[in-house]
Amino acid sequence: MKRAVRVTVNGVPHARDADVRSTLADLLREDLDLTGTHVGCEHGICGACTILFNGEAARSCIMLAVQADGAELATVEGLMRDGKLHPLQEAFREHHGLQCGFCTPGMLMTALDFLRTNPSPSDREIREGISAVLCRCTGYQGIVNAVRAAAPVLASER
Ligand code: FES
Ligand code: FES
Repeated sequence: MKRAVRVTVNGVPHARDADVRSTLADLLREDLDLTGTHVGCEHGICGACTILFNGEAARSCIMLAVQADGAELATVEGLMRDGKLHPLQEAFREHHGLQCGFCTPGMLMTALDFLRTNPSPSDREIREGISAVLCRCTGYQGIVNAVRAAAPVLASER
């Protein structure tokens, strides 16, 4: 069975007929070709599929596409500005916050939401803030360094 779903993703409105059993991650990746949102565990543990749902970090693998009807979504594809990396992406590049990159989209969207709620975090708070996303490569220190470096840049833009 299919239902009409309307979502705005990175500022662009979309309308699709989604299978009622489809997850939001499926809608993004398969129907909208936004494959930057990664899918790892598909049961809410790894955080790779994290996006912003009405401005807050959410796991798109444990939400049905039909539940997103009317929502404003942001994915990693929407971070670049005028052809340049978002300051958080730039910080990840500069501070070696990624290796294979599988966790990176979810990590970026999680960190973005975290820095919105805590613009000047301690390292301990950063570690807690990103703890919902699992990284098998970096040992996390580069990610912590990147989030710390990006914090004042993002805060100055508010
Ligand atoms: S794929 Fe969604 S939490 Fe792992
Ligand atoms: S960079 Fe490989 S899982 Fe995080």
